[in-house]
Amino acid sequence: IESDGTKHFSLTMEPGTTEFFPGEITDTWGINGSYLGPTIRVSRGDKVSFDVVNKLGETSTLHWHGMMLPPAMDGGPHQMIEAGETWSPHWTIDQPSATTWYHPHLHGKTAQHVYRGLAGMFIIDDEDSKKLPSNYGVDDIPLIVQDKLFTSDGQLSEDDDTPYGMLGDEILVNGTYDPFLKVTASQVRFRLLNGSNARAYNFGFTDGRSFQLVANDAGLLNEPVTLERFMLSPGERAEIVVAFEPEEETILRSYSSGAGITNGEFDLLKIVADSELTGSSPISKQLSSIEPIEVPADAKVRQFKLTMENEINDKLMDMYRIDEVVPAGTKEIWEIHNFGSEHNFHIHDAAFRVLDINDKEPPEYARGRKDTVFIPHGASVRIAVEFGNYTDLNYPLMYHCHLLKHEDEGMMDQFLLV
Ligand code: C2O
Ligand code: CU
Ligand code: CU
Repeated sequence: IESDGTKHFSLTMEPGTTEFFPGEITDTWGINGSYLGPTIRVSRGDKVSFDVVNKLGETSTLHWHGMMLPPAMDGGPHQMIEAGETWSPHWTIDQPSATTWYHPHLHGKTAQHVYRGLAGMFIIDDEDSKKLPSNYGVDDIPLIVQDKLFTSDGQLSEDDDTPYGMLGDEILVNGTYDPFLKVTASQVRFRLLNGSNARAYNFGFTDGRSFQLVANDAGLLNEPVTLERFMLSPGERAEIVVAFEPEEETILRSYSSGAGITNGEFDLLKIVADSELTGSSPISKQLSSIEPIEVPADAKVRQFKLTMENEINDKLMDMYRIDEVVPAGTKEIWEIHNFGSEHNFHIHDAAFRVLDINDKEPPEYARGRKDTVFIPHGASVRIAVEFGNYTDLNYPLMYHCHLLKHEDEGMMDQFLLV
């Protein structure tokens, strides 16, 4: 904490080694450590500042995915941090509670930098979110899910030669292979982040239990939704609350959903409940008091076509071209038409609500405030987007497919908030 109340954080991106498998040393990258980075937790209204130190020996960036902030602080492809340099962004947290995250965004290198281990969770609290289980590591558990491919000598294979990019056959949760969690509370909030390059997960529990979805990418739902399955594509987050009885055991698993990027079944986390559980009151039926995003009747509508060549509107990313100009603080409808394979769509400095997918209600799990959405093969998805309030004529923001190989290959465009 600095004298004016700013919460200051130092993050150092550095190479290291990690023992994912006993006795096997894997070269990895991490932030303040050898794999992944610390969870940052702040409250709405906090002033934050960072020193991001690049000790990687090559250029990178650090992007705050899901954050509403001045474009110059966004950490996208234009805010490069050269080897040995320090980048010092700062802003005031001004958005509803959410589970956001941070990761590099160097154009052409994002997939590699994230895959090697550069990512972390960034939690924003507010009065509404504190009514849910919030005791970090006890009844509020982050779960960063990533798939990896290992070479025979235990190194991270970067062979990403599928149409979607990297699809690994081993799963790490919070950087741990074959993880196990003992829960000690009768209601546990899990914050799930799909931090994978291309794989999507269709989450459920092996005993078929239901649970409550309480938040999506960009904030709490208005009311919880009871589910048995939900899907997260790369970059998406969700918060769920799961009830446990003493000594119960279950496994969090990913099931094929029919989408190519969910193919396969993976055990993600074994969970065992303690013989005595600390009680907490059932979660309230009214979570967020923030109105769902509605656009005015005369809202601007923009069209985006995803092509077979992994382009957006027949263009590949150009760092020196502005594709759209959006008035800051406005709400618009964006329509995304997927003529290509499977993709998703993420917008910087924005939150949105999924209006419909192929003219039908989105799945229940896709309710609420989001910043990334899966776009199935052949689908048209309409979203109501609320843009950030900061203007900047010099620093564009990005919208892109969050399958990182697609993004690196140019499935990304730039917009200005004016
Ligand atoms: Cu998670 Cu433009 O990124
Ligand atoms: Cu982002
Ligand atoms: Cu894509």
